[in-house]
Amino acid sequence: MKIETLRWFNNRLEMIDQRILPASFEYLSYDSAASVAESIRSMVVRGAPAIGVAAAYGVALEALRLSSEPFALSLSKGEGFDKLSPNGTQNISASDFKSGMEAGFSALAASRPTAVNLFWALQRMRKVWESVATQAPQQVAQRLLAEAHEILAEDIRINKAMGANGAALLKDGARVLTHCNAGALATAGWGTALGVFRSAVEAGKRISVIADETRPFLQGARLTAWEMVQENIPVTLITDNMAGYMMAQGEVDAVVVGTDRVAANGDVANKIGTYMVAVLARRHNIPFYVACPLSTIDLSIAAGKDIPIEERSVEEVKGFRDCHWAAEGVKIRNPAFDVTPAELVTGLITEKGVVLGPDVHNIKKLMSP
Ligand code: MRU
Repeated sequence: MKIETLRWFNNRLEMIDQRILPASFEYLSYDSAASVAESIRSMVVRGAPAIGVAAAYGVALEALRLSSEPFALSLSKGEGFDKLSPNGTQNISASDFKSGMEAGFSALAASRPTAVNLFWALQRMRKVWESVATQAPQQVAQRLLAEAHEILAEDIRINKAMGANGAALLKDGARVLTHCNAGALATAGWGTALGVFRSAVEAGKRISVIADETRPFLQGARLTAWEMVQENIPVTLITDNMAGYMMAQGEVDAVVVGTDRVAANGDVANKIGTYMVAVLARRHNIPFYVACPLSTIDLSIAAGKDIPIEERSVEEVKGFRDCHWAAEGVKIRNPAFDVTPAELVTGLITEKGVVLGPDVHNIKKLMSP
C-alpha cells in the first residue's frame, strides 16, 4: 500500500488524519493557510518533513484563495462595484494580497515550534514569492503551487537517497529499534528512519523492527506499527520503558530514529524519550543513527540547548479523551521533544551520505555546497 500522507486533489490539499489512525483511515481537505496551520497544531499532520510540506501547501493555498476571492465577499456593500469583472470577481489589490499572504505566513509559523522543516519550507516559499512579486496574484499563486508540488516530490527523492545510504549500515537479519514515527506518515512518503528499513528490505535484507510505543501521543504504537504491518515488515511493539531490557537481553542490533532539528554542533532534537534511548544504546554499545535530511539541520543554532522545545497540552499525559488515569490535581508536564547530545550519535544518515560522529566541523562540510 502506497501511503500518500499529503496529496493535491480538486484544487485542495488533502491529508490523512493521523489523530485517528489506526482505527480509521480518512483524508481531511484544506483550502487556506489558517486551516493548514490548525491541522499542524492539532497533529492531523505531524513529523518534521510532512509539516514542512504541509506549510508549503498552506502558503500556496492562501495565494490561490486570495487571488480568486469572490468580489462580493472581499468588498463591503456599495464599495467598488464598478470594478466588477464579467465573471463577477475582482482582482485583489497588491497591498491586500501582500497583507493576506503575510497573515498566512504568520499563522503557519506559529503552528509548532520545534521542527525546523516548517521554517525551512516557509523561507523557501517566501523566496519564490519575492522572485515573482511583481506578477499578478493569480500567477504568483500558480508559481507557489508549483513550488509546493516540487517540495513534496523532492522530499520523497531525498528519503529514498537517505534510505539507500542508511540501508548499507544494517546487516542482514538486523533487529532495529525506533522511537516515534519517522515513516511515510511523517514525510511526503517512504520516510526517514522507516525509509532506511524500507530500503534495506527492498535490497533483500531481513530486517525486523522494534517500535517504542512513544508516550504520550503513541506515534510508535499507532503509526509506526501500522506502517510496518501494512508493508509486511516484521514489527514488535514495546512500551518505552522496555527498551533497556531489550538491549540488555541482546535483542537490539541498532537504533535508527528521525529528527526535528539538528544544531550546528550535531546535537539532535527528536521526540521525547529519544535521549533516554540514546543513553541506553551507548551503555550497551549499540549504534545509534539519526536519519536526517539536510533541511532538518539548522546552522543558525549552535547547540541543542537553544532548540525551542514545544510543551503540549497536559491532557495528552492525563489520559485519553474522557478516560483520565492521572490523579486529579496532580501537576503534569508535557515537553514533546528532547535533545540528544552529539556525542551519543553514532552517525547522521543524510541524502548526501553518512556523517559518522557528527560535530561542528563535519556538519559544516556537509552543508557546504
Ligand atoms: O510530535 P511529532 O509526531 O511531530 O514528532 C515527530 C518526531 O519526533 C519525528 O521523529 C521527527 O519529526 C522526524 S520525522 C521524519
